[in-house]
Amino acid sequence: MVSKDAKSPVSLDRILTLELVRVTERAAVSAARLRGRGDEKAADQAAVDAMRRELNQLPIDGTVVIGEGERDEAPMLFIGEKVGTKIGPKVDIALDPLEGTTICAKNLSNSLAVIAMAEEGGLLNAPDSYMEKIAIGPGYPAGTVNLDATPTENINAVAKAKGVPVNEITACILDRPRHARLIEEVRATGAAIRLIGDGDVAGVIHTTNPDETGIDIYMGIGGAPEGVLAAAALRCIGGQMQGRLVITREEQKERAVKMGADENRVYTMEEMASGDVYFAATGVTDGNFLQGVKFGKNSIETHTCVMRSSTGTVRWIKATHTQMDKFYLD
Ligand code: FBP
Repeated sequence: MVSKDAKSPVSLDRILTLELVRVTERAAVSAARLRGRGDEKAADQAAVDAMRRELNQLPIDGTVVIGEGERDEAPMLFIGEKVGTKIGPKVDIALDPLEGTTICAKNLSNSLAVIAMAEEGGLLNAPDSYMEKIAIGPGYPAGTVNLDATPTENINAVAKAKGVPVNEITACILDRPRHARLIEEVRATGAAIRLIGDGDVAGVIHTTNPDETGIDIYMGIGGAPEGVLAAAALRCIGGQMQGRLVITREEQKERAVKMGADENRVYTMEEMASGDVYFAATGVTDGNFLQGVKFGKNSIETHTCVMRSSTGTVRWIKATHTQMDKFYLD
């Protein structure tokens, strides 16, 4: 059944799922043209421009709640910016046109163009601070991991629930000095660690397919905006995640209060991304989750994953674009 009412959930699904793919595809291609050039800012800007241009063609009345920063620091896709044609459902949007700017600049694995969309009020308005995160994929009993438990307890719980010895568990952790004690403790349990240089949205998503990625659990402190994006993805694919804001500067505290976020609270995945949630990501560089953009002589190939929480549908879209001029607007 195709609804004629632009606000009905039926048309929202049918139109917007694929429309979101165009948004991340365009951002990914623009960023990918600058892969390996050592210029993080240029790659990010190209992705932002392309994402904004596509987003503004969507039949939505959208508000960016997780974006490139506050209005005074980000000229485009800032928090509070209205996007879309303004005719359509009211939605909140979390985005990262280039997640893993350094990865892209160095042409390493797992940089993505990412967007999440939910009904108004459905995404946690997190400040641009850090967030302590823990995530596992689907198939575990509820409450298997917990931010209030020790890393040792969490690793042991995952091994027990998976039915394997601890030395068959691999944790993904951002390679940062702040994680020295966490890394030491996880290694002491006997578990292995995959240290990543950047890109913890992909890091969290990797827990949903351990057979392919080799990662069972994501742990540690990364960006709060990336935490909300990852929670949106896990809401759709399945899995468990918790996040707690880590506020290090006074202005972040003020922002958190202004946004209604609580720095002492452990947020569940459902609290970070509630209601009907959509998530799309297109690979910029090759990774375990998605292949990167491939430039051919007469075509461009993109790999995108798009999903929706209310249906649990996960679509993998390999697209061959032959109208290349559409990608060369800037
Ligand atoms: P950018 O895309 O903004 O460069 O973020 C990359 C990233 O690695 C995120 O995936 C992660 O959440 C955050 O940076 C970690 O922050 P920091 O580099 O300050 O440790």
